Amino acid sequence: MNIKVSNKVTWVGKLDYELRNFHGDQISTNYGSTYNSYLIQSDKNVLVDAVYTPFANEFIENLKKTIDLNKIDFIIINHSEPDHSGAINQLMEIIPNTPIYCTNSGAKALKGQYHKDWNFVIVKNGQKISIGEEEITFIEAPMMHWPDTMMFYLSGENILFSSDVFGQHFADAKMFDSLVNECDLFAETEKYYANIISPYNKKAAKKIDELIQMNLKIDVICPAHGVVWQKYIQNVLDLYKKWTNAELENQITIIYDSMYGNTKKIATAINEGIHRANKGIATVLHNISKSDSSNIITDVFRSKGIVVGSPAVNNGILNSVAGILEEIVNIDPTNTKAAVFGSYGWSPKPIDNISEKLKNAGYDVNLPVFKCLWAPDDARLEEARKFGEDIANSLL
Ligand code: FEO
Repeated sequence: MNIKVSNKVTWVGKLDYELRNFHGDQISTNYGSTYNSYLIQSDKNVLVDAVYTPFANEFIENLKKTIDLNKIDFIIINHSEPDHSGAINQLMEIIPNTPIYCTNSGAKALKGQYHKDWNFVIVKNGQKISIGEEEITFIEAPMMHWPDTMMFYLSGENILFSSDVFGQHFADAKMFDSLVNECDLFAETEKYYANIISPYNKKAAKKIDELIQMNLKIDVICPAHGVVWQKYIQNVLDLYKKWTNAELENQITIIYDSMYGNTKKIATAINEGIHRANKGIATVLHNISKSDSSNIITDVFRSKGIVVGSPAVNNGILNSVAGILEEIVNIDPTNTKAAVFGSYGWSPKPIDNISEKLKNAGYDVNLPVFKCLWAPDDARLEEARKFGEDIANSLL
């Protein structure tokens, strides 16, 4: 299936409705995803990115129906992760001398993954090339979210090819932002940002500012995943500006796991306390073992406050809590306050260690850790509610 994006640009990618996990099993993709490849046909014919390896045959067969492969003048690889470069390996067996335009890091990553010395043409930030009436301007965007990531702008058609930036795991054959469910689209855009790009928030902030300062006339954004932006370009740019600047929601996300229900009781009491403080703060509770971890990360990413709880287990904490902490410490902690709680039987140290880990990652942990020996009684639960009030008050 091909979709006309503009006069000279055709989408030649793959809709993967069945995809339910990405980056191994780490990220949930409840709406599937797309691997977006585009064909620009002007005086020069340019293929932009490809698709994930399992779809290589299908991609190549489809591409052949659109263009004689030998008429592709060059390929641009914006990002070498296998979900975009996988099919290149197979395509290059058919057109082995076709130049591949990419960043220096991109060439290294492609060589490292496919062990082929293709005809790489290294491009740099701001470099321009003409393909006829149109000009391509390359925009390197390292660590959004790999070192090799770049975008490019196509003048004439006024299209920004943005790689993973502005992407969403969202498979809908309508392929344009104005034609799909807006709520789902923006929710998936945020989830994508939180789970994939936010670990490099500060670099992303700089690049988004740079992009805005370029004053490009952007009529279309063609990301590497999900639908093409046309109607909501300003909205998605504004959201990226907000996210990269760590402008957070008035929300506290409480995440916990529990062995015998004691830590869960404390979590519930903390939540009651936050609402009793009556500061208009929304809360979300996630039992880590039961919630989708990508949704947890999205909630953590958007919250002004996070509260993390685990019982002590031997000398450590529950592995579910330890696992999500590994992701949380990678999220930009700017402007996020954190608090910690848990129950224990003989040593509270593992609960203190959660607090240390969050502090070391840069979270503002400004309240003492709430530790409960054995099971909380009514008095201790009331103290947990007061702890919740303190958390709410500390946010404002
Ligand atoms: Fe969609 Fe970072 O690859």
